[in-house]
Amino acid sequence: MNRPPFEYSNLKMNMTKAPDLEHNKYEGEVNPGITYLYLKTLNSGDTVWEPFAGVDVVKTFALCDKLDINLVAYDIAATDSRAWRLNSLKICPDDFQGVVFHPSYFGSDPFSSSQEELALNSSLNKYKEELEKCVKLASRAKSVCIVGRTYKHQKETIYLDWIYAELFMKYGFKVKKMISSMPDVGVILER
Ligand SMILES: C[S@@+](CC[C@H](N)C(=O)[O-])C[C@H]1O[C@@H](n2cnc3c(N)ncnc32)[C@H](O)[C@@H]1O
Repeated sequence: MNRPPFEYSNLKMNMTKAPDLEHNKYEGEVNPGITYLYLKTLNSGDTVWEPFAGVDVVKTFALCDKLDINLVAYDIAATDSRAWRLNSLKICPDDFQGVVFHPSYFGSDPFSSSQEELALNSSLNKYKEELEKCVKLASRAKSVCIVGRTYKHQKETIYLDWIYAELFMKYGFKVKKMISSMPDVGVILER
């Protein structure tokens, strides 16, 4: 089921508001307010994996530096020399405690010409099936922060944050906190 159940929607009544830090809300850029609130829940010295870290400068590095957190950034089309150009549906770091999870949205334009770009999956079921490969790899973390939103695609409502949260719940994660930063929703899940 792609529509969120009542218990999940109900949690949205009590969302924490993220600080409104400047970013481009409609180009798939990292949401710094949500990411910062999540990183603050981790311990100094922890390692975070960001499997879909962005093609250009990975802004999460600056947030992690402030909190003494190590970031391992992967992106299929990475150009930032600190990031790894890797397919996050197939490989992950050896050891990490947290995950910042902000994939290409279903139905979005591809971010590069890579044939392994997640957004090339044109059916929602196939998109979820592919994404679950990364969720399985990410599920060894103690917590994750997913970033998604609800939107219309070809007349269908896509409850993307719920779709991501449900995938992690299959691997034993539970919702700990919801963060609002319009139009995004951040969900912190823990095992
Ligand atoms: C929503 S954007 C995330 C952007 C990033 N947070 C930023 O601030 O720019 C999704 C990213 O996922 C990457 N991506 C898509 N498929 C991928 C895959 N199979 N493995 C790794 N990265 C992938 C895209 O290249 C894109 O940069």
